[in-house]
Order: sequence, then C-alpha cells, then structure tokens
Amino acid sequence: MTAKIINGKDIAAKKKIEIAQEVKQLKAKGVTPGLAVILVGNNHASRTYVTNKQKTCEELGMYSILIEMPEETTEEELLTKIKGLNGDTKIHGILVQLPLPKQIDEKKVIEAIAPEKDVDGFHPINIGRMLTGQNAFLPCTPYGIMVLLEESGISLSGKHAVVVGRSNIVGKPVGQLLLNHNATVTYCHSKTKDLPFHTKQADILIAAVGIPNFITAEHVKEGAVVIDVGINRNEEGKLCGDVAFNEVSEIAGFITPVPKGVGPMTITMLMYNTVQSAKQSIE
Ligand code: GUN
Repeated sequence: MTAKIINGKDIAAKKKIEIAQEVKQLKAKGVTPGLAVILVGNNHASRTYVTNKQKTCEELGMYSILIEMPEETTEEELLTKIKGLNGDTKIHGILVQLPLPKQIDEKKVIEAIAPEKDVDGFHPINIGRMLTGQNAFLPCTPYGIMVLLEESGISLSGKHAVVVGRSNIVGKPVGQLLLNHNATVTYCHSKTKDLPFHTKQADILIAAVGIPNFITAEHVKEGAVVIDVGINRNEEGKLCGDVAFNEVSEIAGFITPVPKGVGPMTITMLMYNTVQSAKQSIE
C-alpha cells in the first residue's frame, strides 16, 4: 500500500483564495485587516518565519507591520510595546515570535496581549475557551492540521488519535481539538513506555516531537493517517519531518510530507485568524 499524500501547499492555496476574498469584502467596508509581528533578537529561524508572515499578509492584501527589537530588550520594554498595539485600531492581530530571549518571561508576554487580538491562540483565555468548546482563536498549527484532515475527507468521530508530543503550541492543543471532534485521544511523550504499542493503535497519528525520522514503520498501523508536524534538519542539512517518510508512506493510508505538509497551513490559519479578528472588530 502506498499512502495518499496530503498536499498542504495546495490546501493552503485554496484557503488563501477564500481569505483574500474576505479581505476584499472587509476593505469595501473600510477595514483592512492588520497584523503586527514582534521579533525580539536574532534567532535565524524566527526571522525566516516572520518574513514569510509579512509576505503572506502582502499577498492577501492585508496590512502588516514588523517590529524588530534587539536581543537585550527588557521585559518591560516589550510589554509597553504590546500595550500600545492593544490600543491601535489598525491592528487586529498581535504575534510575538517565540522563543524570546531568556530575560523575558514568555507567559507574561502572552498574557499581555489582548485576547481579542491574540491570533496565535496562546492566551490562557483563548486556550480555556477552546477547551470548553467556546468561540476562540485556535492556535495556528493545530488549527491547520484540523483543516488538512477536513479537506482530505477524513472523519474523526470515534477514531483513535494518538498525539506524540505535548508542547503548548502543538501537542496539547491538537489533542484537544481532536477530542472536540469526538476522537478518542491518547497523548504520548518522552516518558511514555513502549511508544510503538500506543502509536500502532492510532487511526490518526500526529507526530510533533521535533526529532528527525523519529516515527518509523514499526510505529504505524496499516492504513493510518499520519500527520508530520516536525520541521527538522537532517545530518546533510536537508529539511525533514519527525516521520521517516519513505518507509511510513508504504504503510499509512494518508501522510503529510515535509515540506509542503503542515507548514504552509500554519501561516494560512494565522491570516484566517487575523481576518476573523478584523471582522469581529466591526460587529
Ligand atoms: N514559534 C514557533 N511557532 C510559533 C507560532 O506559531 N507562533 C509564535 N508566536 N511563535 C512561534
């Protein structure tokens, strides 16, 4: 069996057309959705992500600003900047690129963002709303995964989803969203004993561990849906996921590649959330 490839780039392109249409409609009403991205310090990967976010805003006709702050920025300086953006009516979404330099408390920063502008979906209020099934900004990568599953016609109700990884950004929230869609959810992590025993039971397997080629054929049930959230570099410096793609695609029913899998969906859902925020600002 050879798995069907879930092409995140194509699905993202389709979603972006819909989002651009919404941007147009909002502009006709006098509102241009605006995103502020704050980049603190010199993290190379962060700079690449931020540049891509800016480019996508432009492509969709949105307004965006990039605020660059030096590595030695104090927590207070960053909090003051966020307060200013909370009150800026041209800005509907605020994203502080993580990780932050060590002198800054990430939790304090996330809590300083007005929940109605928290398009990353990281604020405890949005997390709590998501947990209780209320209207909330959903974190972009987990949300993107849900869209990939939906667009691929994969039903979730009663399915066993196994999430490998328990980060606040991906693992924990994606499990919650799967649960909200009536999947039976198992979380696995670095302390899990006999990982293949658990992952072999998965109808839907989410790999979000950040270790190249960690999930191999021995972890996967025949016909399973395998979602690879990893963005790693292998020994040759080539981009690769958490899943050993070649061997797992022989067994899985569906699989996301890296690149062109989950990655393009993250930025797309950020744009989607920003547009929803702009819409809500005039409701
Ligand atoms: N760093 C890695 N992923 C993300 C993300 O989704 N949002 C933010 N703000 N920082 C990140």
